[in-house]
Amino acid sequence: MKSVLISALVAAGVMASAPAFANKDLATKSGCMACHAVDKKLVGPAYQDVAKKYKASDEAMLVAKVKAGGKGVWGQIPMPPNAAVKEADLHTLVKWILAGAK
Ligand code: HEC
Repeated sequence: MKSVLISALVAAGVMASAPAFANKDLATKSGCMACHAVDKKLVGPAYQDVAKKYKASDEAMLVAKVKAGGKGVWGQIPMPPNAAVKEADLHTLVKWILAGAK
């Protein structure tokens, strides 16, 4: 009973804090944050650097790259395919990244 109440409170908290938080949450759930951070390079480039390099119109191209994996743009380390992530989620994630991952 207590844990049900706590999950309800946590869920309410997630919904109360702007969509940006939900997007970061989605990125964490999708495994992206294991290699990426918003403002610094980890294994992959910082999302803020990705946002500087590309335009909103690059969304479809980047979704395809995240899905199939990519290499040679940011350094020697390739990004493996993220085939398990749903197409709709990839669009949400790439839109969020292109908007500066705020
Ligand atoms: C195993 C580590 C790893 C994971 C997991 C990962 N990435 Fe990457 N990502 C990379 C690396 C490394 C690069 C740089 C690849 C290159 O130089 O072309 C990259 C590049 C990118 C780029 C820029 C692509 C380009 O061509 O400039 C985007 C956008 C991106 N990742 C989004 C994501 C998203 C969204 C997820 C989660 C679904 C994700 N990444 C998961 C390592 C990862």
